[in-house]
Amino acid sequence: MSAPDKTKLLARLRPFGQEHLLRFWDELTDAQRAALAGQIDGIDFTQIATLCRQATSDAPQDAQAVAERASEAEPPPAIRLADQRAGASAADARRRGEEALRAGKLGVVLVAGGQGTRLGFDHPKGLYEIGPVSGASLFQILFEKLLARGRRYGVRIPLYLMTSPATHDETLAALDEPKRYGLPAKDVLVFCQGTMPAVDAASGRLLLEDKGKLFASPDGHGGMLAALDRSGGLADIRRRGLEQLFYMQVDNPLVEVCDPAFIGYHLAAGSEASTQVVQKLDPLDRVGNVVSIDGRVQIIEYSDLPENVARLPAPDGSLKLWAGNIAVHVFDVAFLARMSEHGGRLPFHIARKIVPYIDDAGHAVEPEKPNAIKFERFIFDLLPAARTALVVEVDEAAAFAPLKNGPGAKRDTPEWVRGQMVALHRGWLEKVGATVANGVQVEISPLFALDAAEVATKIPRGLRVTADRYFR
Ligand code: UD1
Repeated sequence: MSAPDKTKLLARLRPFGQEHLLRFWDELTDAQRAALAGQIDGIDFTQIATLCRQATSDAPQDAQAVAERASEAEPPPAIRLADQRAGASAADARRRGEEALRAGKLGVVLVAGGQGTRLGFDHPKGLYEIGPVSGASLFQILFEKLLARGRRYGVRIPLYLMTSPATHDETLAALDEPKRYGLPAKDVLVFCQGTMPAVDAASGRLLLEDKGKLFASPDGHGGMLAALDRSGGLADIRRRGLEQLFYMQVDNPLVEVCDPAFIGYHLAAGSEASTQVVQKLDPLDRVGNVVSIDGRVQIIEYSDLPENVARLPAPDGSLKLWAGNIAVHVFDVAFLARMSEHGGRLPFHIARKIVPYIDDAGHAVEPEKPNAIKFERFIFDLLPAARTALVVEVDEAAAFAPLKNGPGAKRDTPEWVRGQMVALHRGWLEKVGATVANGVQVEISPLFALDAAEVATKIPRGLRVTADRYFR
């Protein structure tokens, strides 16, 4: 490969006012120059310029536009828990979902490219040892849920695991044989999402992480569409004849992986994109708000929903915008394939963040307040594009306990998540006749049981649990 040509690179950067990226060129080794030139080559500067304009000069109007749009939000049409309990619909849905699973039509996407900044854990979040008794990692729990689901229906359910440059190598190393938690390596495709540069919020200039390296961060879980396609994942999905993908995040050990009822509802409704929600208890809960605007289901992030709108009551006094996004979706493969052709059309969201950088004098700067703008795509922006989208309510205590925060926060901390796991598993044991002494921690491996009904087939009648126990 020939050495990169500085003059050509400058000619590419100049129209966008980004020549400073080559300021330290003369100090770089050949390898550093080649790497920097490669990074610059991968950037769509016209797109960055457009995004910067939106983020800076138009910001007030943008915020107003978001607020105006939010004020038109209505609660989404949804299959509520009460509807599921009342009729036979849940049993029908379950049967239908089970048929699809048995027929091998399902694959799973797990997004694990985030940097987990709030948790303060310096490794991929999937490696966090969350099991209250077992110390099992999030990856282990989620992989075992998938394995158990496949065993129950006599199929192999392939897993498409998305990492980012921030999490890729460590994730792969952890998944090295024999540690794929029982899933055959050929059924676990690990693919890495793309990145986006960050810009200085005042000037729109790209930031340097090092003299020879642009700062770049994962392009949001919406980057999954392009990355799945690029990595050959979409082709693999087609080759296996999968028709639906169950989508989940790495942070929620309570997720009911490939929930048959959810899949069944999706199929029965002819939905292209379905999403699970929980009833928000506090209007300011830090979950996305699943709403309907102009008859289209969509999600407004908690940070974008004006407080007065979040607090609006429904006629019966409950919260009008009640549906909280738990980031569990089912997508039709045909829909994803159609949308991936338009991958570039998922909008970018703008976040103001603290990004350390190298200034023009070559000094490392550690800003104390947000100095930079990052750009991310969100997978849930696919929802309004679906011909039919479906919203299904689940019980938070049984399906959602995300690990987000370090110790000390009000919720979503390691202690909180462990407490939710123990409470759920205790409930399963008690439901089928076991007694669990007060204060005792119980944890049930997915390979032991996926639900209370399965626990019943595994434990002796009248079981008494008097000390901490991991059922496996
Ligand atoms: C997310 C949702 C929020 C929802 C909540 C439920 C967004 C923007 N918001 O919030 O509506 O109520 O989860 O728990 O998603 N990830 C990547 N690549 C990236 C960024 C993130 O793979 O570039 C993955 C993370 O590894 C994680 C998931 O996406 O598994 C969510 O990311 P996170 O930043 O934790 O989202 P939240 O703000 O918590």
